[in-house]
Amino acid sequence: MPGDLIETGVWRGGASILMRATLFAHGVTDRRVFVADSFAGLPVPDAAQYPADAGDILYRAAPLAVSLEQVRENFRRFGLLDEQVVFVKGWFKDTLPALDSQQFAIIRLDGDLYESTMQALEALYPKLSPGGFCIIDDGALAACMQAVNDYRARHAITAPIEQIDWTGCYWRK
Ligand SMILES: C[S@@+](CC[C@H](N)C(=O)[O-])C[C@H]1O[C@@H](n2cnc3c(N)ncnc32)[C@H](O)[C@@H]1O
Repeated sequence: MPGDLIETGVWRGGASILMRATLFAHGVTDRRVFVADSFAGLPVPDAAQYPADAGDILYRAAPLAVSLEQVRENFRRFGLLDEQVVFVKGWFKDTLPALDSQQFAIIRLDGDLYESTMQALEALYPKLSPGGFCIIDDGALAACMQAVNDYRARHAITAPIEQIDWTGCYWRK
């Protein structure tokens, strides 16, 4: 299926680097990897708008705040920093609706919160190609899965969710 790849919530970049490496290994030059993060950690929960996130303290987790410069360096160390990698810096609510891509083959969501998952689904799922993969890393987090279930119910998505491991899951559009 046509389209770019995106990870929302990249931390040190490992899964995004693997995406770029997979394109490289297969000689794919017409797809980009979008690497979206605040590069400053998680947002403070907006419990008024997203009650499922109330009390979450991950925004205090300093190890989750990895700078864009560090992630760029991690790509470079693998020889995978080039024009097919697009860094998207900022809060998802600001950046994802305005992305410079109209179509995705894979959207990989790993923002932990209800807010981060819902904002990613709302901005990206309409751009996912038919047959494209929607990967959810945080299936073990109740708030994340509540966002997934709310979005799927609202849009009458019935494609079965396949489990990957103890937390990851995906479905195909
Ligand atoms: C658990 S880490 C991602 C782990 C990474 N995907 C991996 O596989 O190694 C969560 C990341 O999501 C980012 N994040 C969460 N919510 C966000 C939001 N609303 N806007 C921007 N970045 C966000 C954090 O900065 C953090 O880097």
